[in-house]
Amino acid sequence: MKIKPVRGTHDLFGKEVRKFNFIVTEVKEIARKFGFDEMITPIFENSELFKKPLGEQSDVVLKEMYTFKDRNEDELTLRPEYTTPMIRSAISNGLLNNLPSKFFGTGQMFRRERPQKGRYRQFNQINFENFGTDDFFADIEMINLANQLLKKILPNNQITLHINTLGSRENLQNYKKVLSKYFKDHQNSLSIESKSKIETNPLRILDSKNIQDKETVLQSPKLIEFLSQSDLKSYEEIKDCLKDLNISISEDLNLVRGLDYYCHTVFEFKTDAIGSQDTLIGGGRYNGLIKTLGGKDIPGIGWAGGIERIMLLLNDVNVITEDIHLCIKDPSLKKHALKIYDYLTKNNFSVYWNYKYNLKKSLSLASEKKVKYVIIVGEEEKKHNNYILKNLSNGEQKALNLNDVLNHIK
Ligand code: HAM
Repeated sequence: MKIKPVRGTHDLFGKEVRKFNFIVTEVKEIARKFGFDEMITPIFENSELFKKPLGEQSDVVLKEMYTFKDRNEDELTLRPEYTTPMIRSAISNGLLNNLPSKFFGTGQMFRRERPQKGRYRQFNQINFENFGTDDFFADIEMINLANQLLKKILPNNQITLHINTLGSRENLQNYKKVLSKYFKDHQNSLSIESKSKIETNPLRILDSKNIQDKETVLQSPKLIEFLSQSDLKSYEEIKDCLKDLNISISEDLNLVRGLDYYCHTVFEFKTDAIGSQDTLIGGGRYNGLIKTLGGKDIPGIGWAGGIERIMLLLNDVNVITEDIHLCIKDPSLKKHALKIYDYLTKNNFSVYWNYKYNLKKSLSLASEKKVKYVIIVGEEEKKHNNYILKNLSNGEQKALNLNDVLNHIK
């Protein structure tokens, strides 16, 4: 029997795991700097948590959720995103009493999409959320955090921030009606897929990638014309501050995002180096969502990034896996080698035991692994109760006892 991995899932090992862990470490470091606490929520939730908030007509809810009934006939869903579970958790645990409340999390998400490069059915997200403030500085803080993180992880990549504002929720409702009417009047020039969204989700037609829709979308009424003066003013202030932070922006009037809960600022960090799945990070404001989920009427803003997509751009991470490689010349020397192995690992060094018991093979493995030091364990060394410490970067070697080996490599 040969069991294949499930389509759209993948295993991580070796270099890939090192990249993955490098990203998560940087995420934790930046979270500390910006004062975000970690939150870990269950992989599955009651399905109703996702249906309405993400949008009954959104692609995620219509086609992509992994929903199942358990033995009690409870309908559960593997989380397709992290924002709603984090809000659910903040409400369930009374974490919205002292505002603002800032949380981050990393973990697996599940969406039954058509797999391709950068798009998987099980993938990992980084997620940052700030619950409880309408201050436009929170929008800047969120974008700045994302920008700093990407710059740290991918210093040599060209990544562009796309930004737009959707205005208030009421505003957006009015705009949707106008847009629906416009697309209905021009339905003959739309693709079949876009036609099906005229009534249910006209906003999504705006970011259609089908060229047949291009001209009609280009001529469509623009949301910016429907915004209030005060919304426009804070949007201008956000853009201004981003410029002060040297974050270059590309304004994208058709950027609406795929989930229903957004209003006001929406943004995406994109690259043109990985093909069509080009959004590394996406997010925005979701004032009203916390109330919809049964909490107080408090605003919120956040973003999520795809770890696998960021990994596609990440060159090898230079993590040295072992500090020291043991070269044991013969199996009869295992007991003598064990002493230094135990001593060094207890003193926080990583030591690699390769099971080769052959000097030549061990040395070539050590240089392949690019370790700095090898410890050679031979008959002579056993007799004198010492070890040869060899520095592979300059070739120097010395016979030393346990303590001196430790002092030397320290
Ligand atoms: P999203 O745009 O659906 O937003 O996903 C955010 C990011 O997750 C995407 O930009 C992408 O990098 C990654 N991603 C999404 N789907 C896949 C997939 N099938 N395979 C690999 N990576 C994927 C959200 O999920 C919102 N909850 C973001 C947010 C947080 N808004 C406010 N707070």
